[in-house]
Amino acid sequence: MELLIKNVRVVDCSQDFIGDVYIYSGIIYEIGKKLEKDCEVIDGEGYILTPSFVDLHSHFREPGYTYKEDLLSGSKAALRGGYTAVNLMANTKPVCSSMDTINMVLKKAREINLVDIHQCASITEELLGESIDHLFELTDAVRFISDDGRGVANSRVMLAAMVAAREKNLTIISHAENEELVDVDTRLAENLMTVRDITLAKFTGCKLHLAHVSTREAMNYIIEGKKQGARITCEVTPHHLALTSETQYRVNPPLRSAEDVNILIEAIKQGFVDVIATDHAPHSMDDKMKGAPGISGLETSFPVCFTKLVGEGHITLNKLSELMSKNPAKLMELNKGEIKIGFDGDLVLLDVKNKYNIDTSEFLSKGVNSPFEGKAVLGTVMCTIKAGRIVYKAKDFKQSLNFK
Ligand code: DOR
Repeated sequence: MELLIKNVRVVDCSQDFIGDVYIYSGIIYEIGKKLEKDCEVIDGEGYILTPSFVDLHSHFREPGYTYKEDLLSGSKAALRGGYTAVNLMANTKPVCSSMDTINMVLKKAREINLVDIHQCASITEELLGESIDHLFELTDAVRFISDDGRGVANSRVMLAAMVAAREKNLTIISHAENEELVDVDTRLAENLMTVRDITLAKFTGCKLHLAHVSTREAMNYIIEGKKQGARITCEVTPHHLALTSETQYRVNPPLRSAEDVNILIEAIKQGFVDVIATDHAPHSMDDKMKGAPGISGLETSFPVCFTKLVGEGHITLNKLSELMSKNPAKLMELNKGEIKIGFDGDLVLLDVKNKYNIDTSEFLSKGVNSPFEGKAVLGTVMCTIKAGRIVYKAKDFKQSLNFK
């Protein structure tokens, strides 16, 4: 696919300039000023062009819970949120514990062909916390394993999983929650499990990624581990950055105090946070009423993060691009996340001038469970481009294509 985006503010992790970007054969081919090409053209004046976002942590619920989300609706929600690649968690039905189930997801994702999909395998078979035998059947199609939704309670099982993961060069995504203590105190449950998993990762040399870090203590353990050279990375979610427990909304881990939020933001500024991931967890309203934890996050991630982190002056848009595009792409070993010649032509056109209120009735996700409903934000994804193809356009994006 060929596409030229002209007169646009080009921003990625390391650059910020006005110019033109030309995509040829799906790849960023030329970057410059006053480029003239005989192809589809977008006039980007007044907009920002960044690499599309990459979500290291999403739930698309297929197979088994497609009334909450499926691969098609999840892909559409991703594109509306500016994402062109996602890493799906394994808590489906059946659980993604076998290559049969994983291959079924990957095949369907290829047929849909909207976003690049990686499917995690579970760490323990059927998420039961016991056997890891299935790990030895996994092919190279799997790069991450996770029991996300619950912690691996048994330390010996986690140790064996980390040894297997190191041998197979898999990264473990830890949902750090100690089930025995969660009813006593959820932060104790997160903190204890974070320490255990970092300690085991140091012992085994396995690559460990800590998901949805929410407490100040857990972040401090991660910082300490990183300083000691452990192979650990971590993510925080938009909701743990923008909300506190004053907002009563059920999500796991729970929304924390303002002090925790400040520590997470400080850790971002100091370079200890690798990724912002959505933990997109769509649920039906009925399930939500029955207490299902989670937030449908793909379609609010950019505006929430832009408003909170860039709007309030904590970080630059370059840094946000690093957290939402460059770093997750690197962890997923994708050729995306920067606007450089030779990278995939996966880009988003953003408007950051017009304030609006989040309206969940516009979501393309089946899950409209969001504490951000009605919130005033800045940052609209106007257009998502994948490999040079326009795959999503906001309804008020009235650009005349073929402007020359
Ligand atoms: O709130 C959450 N919902 N946290 C998780 O870790 C799992 C997720 C889900 O699958 O609904």
